[in-house]
Amino acid sequence: MSRSAHPAGPRYADVLPEGHYSAPPADLNALDPKVWAQTVTRDEHGVATVGGVDVKRLAEEFGTPAYVMDEADFRARARAWRTAFGPDADVFYAGKAFLSRAVVRWLHEEGLNLDVCSGGELTTALSAGMPAERIAFHGNNKSAEEIERAVTAGVGRIVLDSFQEIVRVAHIAQSLGKRQRVQIRITVGVEAHTHEFIATAHEDQKFGIPLAGGQAAEAVRRALQLDGLELIGIHSHIGSQIFDMSGFEVAAHRVVSLLRSVRDEHGVELPEIDLGGGLGIAYTSDDDPREPHEIAKALTEIVTRECEAAKLRTPRISVEPGRAVVGPTAFTLYEVGTIKPLDGLRTYVSVDGGMSDNIRTALYDAEYSVALVSRSSDAEPMLARVVGKHCESGDIVVRDAFLPADLAPGDLIAVPATGAYCRSMASNYNHVTRPPVVAVRDGEARVIVRRETEEDLLRLDVG
Ligand code: LLP
Repeated sequence: MSRSAHPAGPRYADVLPEGHYSAPPADLNALDPKVWAQTVTRDEHGVATVGGVDVKRLAEEFGTPAYVMDEADFRARARAWRTAFGPDADVFYAGKAFLSRAVVRWLHEEGLNLDVCSGGELTTALSAGMPAERIAFHGNNKSAEEIERAVTAGVGRIVLDSFQEIVRVAHIAQSLGKRQRVQIRITVGVEAHTHEFIATAHEDQKFGIPLAGGQAAEAVRRALQLDGLELIGIHSHIGSQIFDMSGFEVAAHRVVSLLRSVRDEHGVELPEIDLGGGLGIAYTSDDDPREPHEIAKALTEIVTRECEAAKLRTPRISVEPGRAVVGPTAFTLYEVGTIKPLDGLRTYVSVDGGMSDNIRTALYDAEYSVALVSRSSDAEPMLARVVGKHCESGDIVVRDAFLPADLAPGDLIAVPATGAYCRSMASNYNHVTRPPVVAVRDGEARVIVRRETEEDLLRLDVG
């Protein structure tokens, strides 16, 4: 299986060759703990349960499709990141992966900070009680209004992404009588995806200020001169769904070399560095992600070593995992509607959702797993493609999957590892209403984001 980063970017990474699929799993009823949320198991009747609640009950009570989130697992993963990095570092959960007020409260309680990248995410965070000083505000084109709101709220840091923004934030902060803590996001010439990283063609993207050509150094020079800004550090984010730590190693080396030249030029040792997010998770049993404690150890060692070599005090490190916290904690529960065997090809299994609740397969050729969850089955494996109900042939949820050959309309199937970038990237394509997010814990289930209704759709359409 090819997991090479593709020079054309993430969209092309992780693409299986045409017609490729793995061998059927030994046991179709197994729910691999690598890809399923921690509390998922099958009960004595073969029905999958999560947080002690069976999926048939969830489907009856909340309907399908639904995102089902294992709260205990979310909290455990958040806590594992927090503990791994310890009190001398900060973990900012990347809200773009999935954000709701319940999630903000869980993060707050588990001691994580929050990375937001729009006014909407900021509003959600503040309305659920996340202290502003624990929020980082990101984005490559923040509006003046968003900046003003962030500064007024007192966010802990704004991550500056361009030369214009350095001046904009300084001006807005000053006019509000404030001095805003900021980091500068730089591009270090590394792009990492899945198992490899590439160190070419990386500056050709919209985020950050290139280290190359002295641009990042110039950005630091300007930021240090402006009264409205307190420059606290440098930020680097190198990609997504990364398994290989060597991209971080090169990034840390380059960030530290900038810190050294800042010290040499200005006599200032910037106290923080942020290495971004991007740590990979298992979407299928073939993926082998690292544990937070291994990641924390590796990153801390890299930064400490680089700083010792540069004779710098080791800065406070922060990271921004999104997918690695929330991704594995949820699955999408669907009901099977129609089943079409295409002789010699595969069987098309249509579910009651699709690219509106998971665009990642269509957009990135992402791989997912799937299982029959409303019962177990001893039937033979059948090569299937799980597709949605949208008017588009690219409306694929799971490209190649094995499901039992006795699968029937009305069965419930579930796609694991859909906690990140599924609800947050969901759409109303074909005027389909977006599914709810149901949180399950200790035998109880509750809606944390309700299902959209057709009334919601009509309310936006002013006629
Ligand atoms: N920090 C920054 C500055 C980022 O841009 C991102 C993701 C993260 C942190 C969190 O990355 P994570 O740990 O979740 O990989 N929609 C794509 C992913 C886009 C990620 C954008 N930035 C997907 O579905 O794979």
